Amino acid sequence: MTSAVDEGRRAVPSILRGQKALVTGANSGIGKATAIGLGRAGADVVVNYVSGGEAAEEVVEEIKSFGVRAYAYEADVSQEDQVVAMVARMVEEFGTIDIMVANAGLQRDAAITEMSVAQWQKVLDVNLTGQFLCAREAAKEFLRRGVVPEVSRSAGKIVCMSSVHQIIPWAGHVNYASSKGGVLMMMQTLAQELAPKGIRVNAVAPGAIRTPINRSAWDTPEAEADLLRLVPYRRVGDPEDIANAVTVLASDLLDYVVGTTIYVDGGMTLFPGFATGG
Ligand code: BGC
Repeated sequence: MTSAVDEGRRAVPSILRGQKALVTGANSGIGKATAIGLGRAGADVVVNYVSGGEAAEEVVEEIKSFGVRAYAYEADVSQEDQVVAMVARMVEEFGTIDIMVANAGLQRDAAITEMSVAQWQKVLDVNLTGQFLCAREAAKEFLRRGVVPEVSRSAGKIVCMSSVHQIIPWAGHVNYASSKGGVLMMMQTLAQELAPKGIRVNAVAPGAIRTPINRSAWDTPEAEADLLRLVPYRRVGDPEDIANAVTVLASDLLDYVVGTTIYVDGGMTLFPGFATGG
């Protein structure tokens, strides 16, 4: 007898078969779902994490259950030497990299008058510099290897995990919103620079997704009702909603998508306040 889970696995086409993916911040939340989603679609996956090795090993086990390869790798994406070593090890282990999902990110919220330079810097270091380092190291390997037509039409894919806050200002979160605004321009600039070399750079911008980063926004019925006023589709997103977008975006199904952000936000970027006002 096959379980519903087995049925689900079979229903997902292997659109990433033979590709090698690295997902940063992949032991929880959106990164975890994405690493699992890429593995389910046939990719071998490196599960990066900075703390919480046990959770990362669980993600690895789940990915391996799809018959692909996976291993966990501890690295702080804001540290250049660690990112360089992480990609070098992946090339040793898997031969190359085809898909870099620069996902790791965090929040350190405070009103501007209360925000320390440390809070500002930490968020910029991880959310923006971390993505820059991951994109740079992946791009070097993509250029070294070039296109392998049996694997993919492109020489490589970089998916930046952004946020609706790359375009929606967010009071009390100036560090986070600035980092994601930076991700938008970094992504577009890299896309312009690398597209002639056959590399596709794009972003996925989640809205309110049920993960540890925003637990307080959904973990009581009152908080959830408040949050849903900002979501025209009236549901909080699941990490799998993002994983599905990344999986398809990284595949050749979307080979002609270059320098674009896919918003996966239940309509949060539609200015829902104007549904009844203006
Ligand atoms: C933030 C969440 C927030 C969501 C929608 C995300 O980028 O990390 O905390 O709930 O945007 O505002």
